[in-house]
Amino acid sequence: MPDVKFFYGDNLPLEMHKARIVQKLELKPIGQRAQAMAGAGYNTFLLNNSDVFIDMLTDSGTNAMSDRQQAAMMWADDAYAGSETFVRLEKMLKRVFGKSYFLPAHQGRACESIISQVFVEEGSVVPMNYHFTTSKAHIVLNGGRIEELLIEEGLDVESEHPFKGNMDVQKLESLICELGADRIPFVRLEAGTNLIGGQPFSLENLRAVGRLCRAHGILIVMDASLLADNLYLIKRREAACAEMTIEEITRAVAEECDIIYFSARKLGCARGGGMCLDDGDLYLKMRELIPLYEGFLTYGGMSVREMEALTVGLEETMDEDMIGQGPEFTAYMVDALKDRGVPVVVPAGGLGCHVDARRFLDHIPQEESPAGALAAAFFIVSGVRGMERGTMSEQRDADGSENPAHMELLRLALPRRVFTVSQLGYVMDRLQWLFDNRDLVGGLRFVEEPEILRFFFGKLEPVSDWPERLAAKYSEDFRDSL
Ligand code: F0G
Repeated sequence: MPDVKFFYGDNLPLEMHKARIVQKLELKPIGQRAQAMAGAGYNTFLLNNSDVFIDMLTDSGTNAMSDRQQAAMMWADDAYAGSETFVRLEKMLKRVFGKSYFLPAHQGRACESIISQVFVEEGSVVPMNYHFTTSKAHIVLNGGRIEELLIEEGLDVESEHPFKGNMDVQKLESLICELGADRIPFVRLEAGTNLIGGQPFSLENLRAVGRLCRAHGILIVMDASLLADNLYLIKRREAACAEMTIEEITRAVAEECDIIYFSARKLGCARGGGMCLDDGDLYLKMRELIPLYEGFLTYGGMSVREMEALTVGLEETMDEDMIGQGPEFTAYMVDALKDRGVPVVVPAGGLGCHVDARRFLDHIPQEESPAGALAAAFFIVSGVRGMERGTMSEQRDADGSENPAHMELLRLALPRRVFTVSQLGYVMDRLQWLFDNRDLVGGLRFVEEPEILRFFFGKLEPVSDWPERLAAKYSEDFRDSL
């Protein structure tokens, strides 16, 4: 049962904060939205924010800061070396994770680059619950490959398994036996597994992976970017953890990991990143790369203001009321859409609501990017910007053949504490309209396709004049001007 303090009426989630700074929004007419989408090559990454009504592209660097975070930014100590700000951040990270060392970096993928450069070599294999785009790219760039060992339910968008981010421990054991521990520089576990719908792992599963890795002398590296959601979902869904505080769960999770890295654009609601660890020798190895790529050791590419905000943000991450907002709002949206018959990934995870484009647009073949088409169509009809998380977000194989994604998702991210329940109501209303008119949506094909991380800059075109027909129908139904 939901905690009463977060809900009222018919399971409506309650904002446990008030807005004291607001930003005006504009909802442009559908004709302008359709034009903007065409101008952006049907890729929502290439839209200008001024054309966007509700921005659900990502929660990266777009979470609302608290008053305490903003206040902390004022007393930042600006020094190239040895700033007080860094000392405060380092101390907070030690308090939260209990690790001796902290290396700062400008964002999450910089940590991935450093970790991959230090540990991955030609022929390395990195097992993980599931990849993230940048994590995989850096491992491959350094000559390694990845093995995804997610439990079977993780890839089943309809499975109600509470921990779809769990790793299949038996598969990991077989892989270690097959390859030998020497080929495996580390096992990567991603909290709040992004690309499968923000799905958490359980503490029990992490401990089982930990026991196996320690027995074989293999490091565990945790991507903690989405850890806040994962911590909250452990507390809510794992009976053995129900009475633990968020602080205790965090420590229990951290104890299993040798290196914890994170994007502070997500964890701590600020911007930046870093790595925490206990091993002095590894620290020295990794440290060498920080001044080369990031900046001096006491800022690593982050501004001192962001570091202060992060320090407070990390402290607030230990507050259940604060971190509950993301998963509870996501659950509200996921459950309401499911009740309306709109296909979404269940159960609700963290990060946001993930619409299953394969079932939503079952007439569009995977080669024509159903998730990309859904993202473009949804922007046209609503002004809401989501993100394609499907085949377009994958890379072609070395021989140039397409690498179909396991899932075709439209991600509607919920930056924490940014949108209200009534805004979510609008989003769901328009999504429902699109679902009722889904036959009008057609596929997309690439006209410009970058080799690496093509989803960022790639441009596409519709396979027919479907955007015009969709816009015409919408404009008729809602008297919105073309
Ligand atoms: N790991 C995970 C799980 C992430 O979600 C991200 C970023 C990164 C690493 C990289 O961190 O952006 O600070 O370099 N995710 C963003 C998103 C981009 O929209 O999901 P970064």
